[in-house]
Amino acid sequence: MENNQLSFEDIRPYLLYEFKNESQMLSSINEVGKFFNFYRENIDKYREDERLISAYCAYWLTTNYPKLFEILKLLPANFDINAYDNIVDVGTGPGTFLLALDSILESSPRVYGVDISNLMVEQARKLIEGLAAERKMNIGTKCPEGLTGKTLLIFTHSLNEMGASIAMDYLEKVSPDSVLVLEPGTKDAFGKTLELRELCVKADFNVAFPCYTNRPCPLDLEKDWCHQYLKTSHAQDVESMTQKLGRDRKLLPMTIQLYTKAQSESLTENSARLIRVYKQTKHSFEWMLCNEQDGLNHTFDVELPKRGMSKKEKKDIESWMAGEVVRYKVIKELENKQRIELI
Ligand SMILES: C[S@@+](CC[C@H](N)C(=O)[O-])C[C@H]1O[C@@H](n2cnc3c(N)ncnc32)[C@H](O)[C@@H]1O
Repeated sequence: MENNQLSFEDIRPYLLYEFKNESQMLSSINEVGKFFNFYRENIDKYREDERLISAYCAYWLTTNYPKLFEILKLLPANFDINAYDNIVDVGTGPGTFLLALDSILESSPRVYGVDISNLMVEQARKLIEGLAAERKMNIGTKCPEGLTGKTLLIFTHSLNEMGASIAMDYLEKVSPDSVLVLEPGTKDAFGKTLELRELCVKADFNVAFPCYTNRPCPLDLEKDWCHQYLKTSHAQDVESMTQKLGRDRKLLPMTIQLYTKAQSESLTENSARLIRVYKQTKHSFEWMLCNEQDGLNHTFDVELPKRGMSKKEKKDIESWMAGEVVRYKVIKELENKQRIELI
């Protein structure tokens, strides 16, 4: 049964460190947040301390866990997570995505979690033993090599810590058929993802999400980056924790990319990826789209008039977020954008 929420109470019995009280837990979470946001040069420090690892689990594990459920809805229809013989999660940390995989998978692939930190590995083993004992998982600091069968390699909020060159070392060891990158939706994480994208294209992978071609990203990377948004909901105790911390974890910016050795799904001429939702006007939705033109990735602005739409249609379109595919027809060329209708 798919369970897309994990409460703090679910994981608490399996944490390496027992918080003395809520206030200690909240201040420990803020301490870890500082490593991510301000002291990135010391980022390895939070993963060497049981208290900080437990704080990571309390806040980031519980709020990252629902992401995979939403991400799978965005990926091309021909990507089937159940079609792999091996799934390797690199930078598994406390096993956040191993727990999500356990809930999502209908098949029984060999699942591996790899992390550079011995303490994270210990935490992941304890959580998996407590919450997903029936699925045999191999968790350790050593990356599996010489795997047989079809393999999916995933980087889960870890590429931004290790960089593209180390990620490529993992790729060489695992020799995957597909690589799924799930990173924070920040400019820095996108920069590292683009480096990996380029190396993967050179290694004969196709970019299956979010781009329409393997050619370079057309955005002005000095000021812009391509990211998607996920809407997630959390267990009640996690929700209350995020409120006490004054942090929003319901709308999560993500950098999601999928590279596959297989031919990418061919997207029709009349479709484009929604990559930016601008502020809507009284009369129209305003978006930036990206698709293929003359063999290149190409971004362009459009307006979608609201005239003639029912309240329900407007509400539905209002909920569309970057990452989705839009099927459209151009009805008018305007000075710096196109007016479109949906098909
Ligand atoms: C932010 S945590 C993400 C944990 C988990 N995947 C998640 O999404 O919640 C990043 C993890 O990447 C791991 N990491 C960093 N560099 C690594 C490397 N070179 N090899 C393997 N793991 C690495 C860290 O130890 C840490 O556990």
